[in-house]
Amino acid sequence: MSTLTKKLDGKVAIVTGGASGIGEATARHFADHGARAVVIADIQPEKGRSVAESIGLHRCSYVQCDVADEEQVKSMVDWTVQTYGGLDIMFSNAGTISSSQQTVLDLDLSQYDVVMRVNVRGSAVCVKQAARKMIELGTKGAIVCTASVAAAVGGPNHVDYTMSKHAVLGLVRSASLQLGAHGIRVNCVSPSLVETPMAGRFGLVTAGDVENVMEPFTSLKGVGLTAAHVAAAVLFLASDESGFVTGHNLVVDGGLTGVPFMK
Ligand SMILES: NC(=O)c1ccc[n+]([C@@H]2O[C@H](COP(=O)([O-])OP(=O)(O)OC[C@H]3O[C@@H](n4cnc5c(N)ncnc54)[C@H](O)[C@@H]3O)[C@@H](O)[C@H]2O)c1
Repeated sequence: MSTLTKKLDGKVAIVTGGASGIGEATARHFADHGARAVVIADIQPEKGRSVAESIGLHRCSYVQCDVADEEQVKSMVDWTVQTYGGLDIMFSNAGTISSSQQTVLDLDLSQYDVVMRVNVRGSAVCVKQAARKMIELGTKGAIVCTASVAAAVGGPNHVDYTMSKHAVLGLVRSASLQLGAHGIRVNCVSPSLVETPMAGRFGLVTAGDVENVMEPFTSLKGVGLTAAHVAAAVLFLASDESGFVTGHNLVVDGGLTGVPFMK
């Protein structure tokens, strides 16, 4: 890739949930676009280390970090700055979903607690710790969170996940207002169904099936959403190209939520 297309030249980025799926694709995309360093913060050491190695250990590291544990996140942010000399981008992306259907009538509150802990508390901790460090360093950084189409509409199941993603949107909107005075931008991406281990693990989609499952609901036909599409949207929000964009929810859903009827 020529230097002209490198949108993150010299930047230092943290990607939570970077061992897999959307986070992994984005970590690779950040590195392709000239990021000086990418730190993958996750709880899957084998996968995380393997992604870091394949990107190149001179500029990509895996750090074991539970995003809902504030001490671990603070240590991971401190380590990033000590090791790479700065922090320009926080991609707060780690997330989870319950293994059962979780309609409101059948809501299993122990699973609800896990979803809220990772998706809501984890996002708040990552935004807080990244923003505090950026302010301390005087860095006009970019924070991007992964929300979901479930941040904008209700659904027939997974009420806990839907609640958690609505909360991420609230976090992004409030944080963007509160951090704007420091020059820190806060945005989110909202994908529809992407074929990742998370989607597969909970039976949302089988291999190679995203296009078929989603086509009745999307305006775009003949295209299935991939992690690479989402990574491209995150890159835009993380780079200086979106320098006057903050508090924005960039929906990446082929038109799913824009027009609310079967297409
Ligand atoms: N796949 C989809 O259809 C879809 C759609 C919209 C939004 N999302 C969101 O995208 C994000 C990434 O999900 P994905 O689809 O790539 O799934 P994934 O399972 O491939 O990746 C999620 C990653 O988060 C990590 N993680 C989970 N809990 C963690 C914790 N406590 N601390 C640190 N890391 C943790 C996992 O180990 C994993 O590597 C999530 O926030 C998810 O809610 C996914």
